[in-house]
Amino acid sequence: MAGNILVTRKLPGNAIDELAERYNVEVWDREEKISRYELKRKIKDKDALICLLADKIDREVIDSAPNLKIIANYAVGYDNIDVEYATRKGIYVTNTPDVLTDATAELAWALLFAVARRLREADMFLREGKFKGWEPELFLGKEVTGSRIGVIGAGRIGRSFMKKGKGFDIKWCYYSRTRKNDLEVEFNARFVDTLTMFERCDFVSLHVPLTDETYHLIKKEHFDRSNGRVILINTARGAVVDEEEMIKALYDGRLRGAGLDVFEKEPYVPPSLMNLSNVVLLPHIGSATHRTREKMAEMVAKNVDMALKGHIPPNLVNKELLEK
Ligand code: NAP
Ligand code: GLV
Ligand code: GLV
Repeated sequence: MAGNILVTRKLPGNAIDELAERYNVEVWDREEKISRYELKRKIKDKDALICLLADKIDREVIDSAPNLKIIANYAVGYDNIDVEYATRKGIYVTNTPDVLTDATAELAWALLFAVARRLREADMFLREGKFKGWEPELFLGKEVTGSRIGVIGAGRIGRSFMKKGKGFDIKWCYYSRTRKNDLEVEFNARFVDTLTMFERCDFVSLHVPLTDETYHLIKKEHFDRSNGRVILINTARGAVVDEEEMIKALYDGRLRGAGLDVFEKEPYVPPSLMNLSNVVLLPHIGSATHRTREKMAEMVAKNVDMALKGHIPPNLVNKELLEK
């Protein structure tokens, strides 16, 4: 066998089984997720790690794996990994971009519509037997067509989200690290700062990665400006938003509603959020389609295979390693 691989969860599709034909693969297949203790113990003799965004791969975990050559994250976001330390140790870090872009952008729209048109409340109402016939004022919501939407983070998913909105006559604005001329031409999108966005938009959708710079990027000042109009959609990472301030703004009406797939301290979801009717809460399912999750498994397998064969893995995050 050319290498020992640890996979911290059973993944959809056949990619890991195929990898196991060529390598020594150990899959953590228990009901509960792998504990930190078990992770540190099992990684000791491994050359490669395939892990989830819920696995914290910090310095201590990395230090328990003297032979580790690659950490292949089964996600596009990699804020769960101490990439800087991995780089110092000469370990490749890879992710799964592109294959989950459509699925995640779709989910952002699903949340947006669900909150705007009050699907969760209306569904509950019907199931509780309260539907007594058509009513002129039953569950009036916010019309999406013709609305003004702000996108924060005009990368793969942010752009795909915009592209999928064609047909809804959206007035777009966006904010990103750098200006995107093509978006300004194709979507007539205006580049605005994030505070202005909360003043002017009906919806704001977040698509930035979680980094030191984007931690609590959306905070009290934004909600103070939003004047009861904005519906916030977050399929990025919980900690991009100051969750406590967001909850206050949802309670006192500065924010009109929120559609959330991610939370600051996942899997913990504050009970105060659960009590709100103007929010839709999902258990981090942005990329959760059969097709996407199988492709993600193929990608982590490919990255590991390449690294263990001594090649550069195709979805390398820490490209600085190539300069060494
Ligand atoms: P991406 O292509 O790298 O796009 C991220 C964009 O964010 C980039 O265009 C970048 O802007 C922008 N950005 C980065 N730092 C910024 C900053 N400090 N200020 C303003 N803009 C900044 O990544 P992606 O594939 O679209 O994924 C985005 C994130 O979505 C992931 O990192 C992950 O956390 C999240 N995600 C969640 C789910 C889910 O299940 N809910 C699924 C997939 C992904 P520039 O281009 O201007 O530099
Ligand atoms: C999911 O959240 C991802 O980053 O892939
Ligand atoms: C609603 O169902 C309508 O026909 O207007």
